Amino acid sequence: MNAHLNLEDAALLDAVAGKVTAARSLLREIADDFSPAAFASSLGAEDMVLTDLIVRDRLAIEIFSLDTGRLPAETYELLGKVKSHYGLALRLYYPRHDLAEAWTGEHGINAFYDSVELRKGCCHFRKVEPLQRALAGRKAWITGMRAQQSATRDGLPIRSFDAGSGDAGLEKFNPLADWSEREVWAYIKQNQVPYNTLHDKFYPSIGCAPCTRAITPGEDVRAGRWWWENPESKECGLHVKRP
Ligand code: ADX
Repeated sequence: MNAHLNLEDAALLDAVAGKVTAARSLLREIADDFSPAAFASSLGAEDMVLTDLIVRDRLAIEIFSLDTGRLPAETYELLGKVKSHYGLALRLYYPRHDLAEAWTGEHGINAFYDSVELRKGCCHFRKVEPLQRALAGRKAWITGMRAQQSATRDGLPIRSFDAGSGDAGLEKFNPLADWSEREVWAYIKQNQVPYNTLHDKFYPSIGCAPCTRAITPGEDVRAGRWWWENPESKECGLHVKRP
């Protein structure tokens, strides 16, 4: 992921500096004009860049994470590092216990391997439903998505209206939409931002532990997510456009 990064590369550093300026000004605008706004952090590399920018400028943007109950141990460790590094306790949202008990009771604890439909059902009670609660009453939400991450994110806009989330829809911002993976890592290294140690073990994209594996060189950055499925189905439902 970041092994071949050259922090002496002037063109790379220039590009990062320009994108940081743009992202900081967008984040400030969101904090000022779209209050209450919230940032959904999965604690992935992109989300750590955004966390650093939000904390650096002391912006009034709440940072929350959806704890699915099945995250890798390394992700929970990073939660602790965020607390010690920034003095910041992310707000955590959990799956509803009644939905978890009903789904696992009916289908089995690991039934998400059996079909795309069951996998989406699991993502739904573990992430999508809690996200709806996290976004209720908000005017905007922020994600760490980038257009280059996958075919499903090609052409991702920096700003759009998300009609299907929150109570009656809200603005959705992807401030790093046009960043490359190298730019993300250059920022992390330059600013000594804490990050998930799984990234050093060929996990560029990290979700729940049973649904994430390492990739091999040359594979798509999201190839390790739900690796048994086709690339077109690989979204958990947080970012699916609903009418
Ligand atoms: S996703 O399919 O799991 O959503 P990805 O891991 O690439 O894809 O995450 C994209 C963005 O969705 C993250 O940058 C973050 O904004 C949001 N997100 C994903 N998972 C979580 C989570 N568990 N908690 C909070 N936000 C999340």
